[in-house]
Amino acid sequence: MKKTNVYIETFGCQMNVADTERAATRLRSAGYMVVNCADIADIVLFNTCSVRARAEQKVFTRVGELNKIRRSKSFIVGIMGCVAQLEGESLFNISKSVGLVAGTQATDRLPQLLERVLTGENNVIDLAERQSGEEWNVSTAERHSPYVAFVPIIEGCNKFCTYCIVPYSRGRERSRPASDIVKEVIKLKAAGYHEIHLIGQNVNSYRPKTGEGLELFSGATFFSKLLRAVAATGVARIKFTTSFPRDFHSDIVTAMDEHENLCNWIHLPVQSGSDRILRLMKRGYNSSNYMRRVEEIRSGRRRYALTSDIIVGFPGETAEDFNSTLKLIERCQYDSLYIFKYSVRRGTPAANLTDDVSIVEKSERFIMIEKLQKKIQAQINNSYVGETVSVLFEGKSAKSGNDMTGHTTCNKVINIKDTSNLEGTINNVVVTDAKVNSLYGVLVENCP
Ligand code: 5AD
Ligand code: SF4
Repeated sequence: MKKTNVYIETFGCQMNVADTERAATRLRSAGYMVVNCADIADIVLFNTCSVRARAEQKVFTRVGELNKIRRSKSFIVGIMGCVAQLEGESLFNISKSVGLVAGTQATDRLPQLLERVLTGENNVIDLAERQSGEEWNVSTAERHSPYVAFVPIIEGCNKFCTYCIVPYSRGRERSRPASDIVKEVIKLKAAGYHEIHLIGQNVNSYRPKTGEGLELFSGATFFSKLLRAVAATGVARIKFTTSFPRDFHSDIVTAMDEHENLCNWIHLPVQSGSDRILRLMKRGYNSSNYMRRVEEIRSGRRRYALTSDIIVGFPGETAEDFNSTLKLIERCQYDSLYIFKYSVRRGTPAANLTDDVSIVEKSERFIMIEKLQKKIQAQINNSYVGETVSVLFEGKSAKSGNDMTGHTTCNKVINIKDTSNLEGTINNVVVTDAKVNSLYGVLVENCP
């Protein structure tokens, strides 16, 4: 039998990357060939993102491009992920080549769904929930990196922040059994993985059904118990994202203080510094609650890098609201910041508010934050010069061929001039220079 080639193109967040790895695992074990180039594929799957209009648009552009390139050879397009879940049936109208729409919880059923497409069924669609007994595990062969692995611990979101589409595209929170997570980390460690990212829309909401595997671990929350359980595997580095500020318990910092392999980086998206806007966003905290969390982090035993997300131009955001955001950024001294212009998402509560901050104002506010953050970031990065940091080298730098690039435990990009093969190793590096977005250094042993 001729093997069917499948190519999966991924947009969006780490959860989508993890879902692609899971899909590839299921497809390969069902006999499909998973290839890394769209040109030779019989089936092209787009794993889509809908968090902002710009991200959503990408899939439509890509389907168009592919149709042009592949005019001479027939192929099938499948749309999976968040856009598939939200738009459903209507996606069959974008092009004749679209034969499959598979929602965010259909990953494990892709082999059977594709089978139906290949045997001639038109417009195959599956927007159903995950079914019991479906596996989270993915094969190491399908992972995006041989050194860094994403391990989902919780899917979905119950928070319903008013601007956000995720609760609709990914459904209610579902936590993975702790014993499953720990087993996977042990397997990854044995396979040579040095860094594990525990991922979820809201990792601090982690709440396993049975709690099996966590009884031996202390902790004020299930998530801090899980952190201690994963730390006990002895894997070199553990990072986690994303934390929801309201549920960020101080015991998380305590657990991190206790275990060196829980890396010194915390992503705590604030979204806005204005209490009025935070209320309209229904984030469940105000700027002083948030600052209390930041102080807890700052009083930890180690120096914890802190990063955040900001939305500019939420409906009704005034110059005064925006100033409060600038002030909060100044106070928090973030190591890095992701800034987004508010984008209306149909079906969310905020879509009923008038999107009244003009595109020009959104851009101006975006640029002002960017400028402020660059200044803060340059100062923070400069303060690392002369310090020794532990670096996992992940490969050659894309910008300068001979440099090796990697990440510090606090998740900063760092490059060193070195032609020897350090890829896949962890080394101590002395920081010699700092730019806004990255550090430069030399191996401790080569230090003059
Ligand atoms: N518009 C702009 N940014 C958004 N985000 C989520 N929804 C929207 C939206 N409708 C941002 C938030 C979130 C990040 C992943 O994306 O800052 O933390
Ligand atoms: Fe969206 Fe809020 Fe859930 Fe994050 S916590 S995924 S912003 S609804």
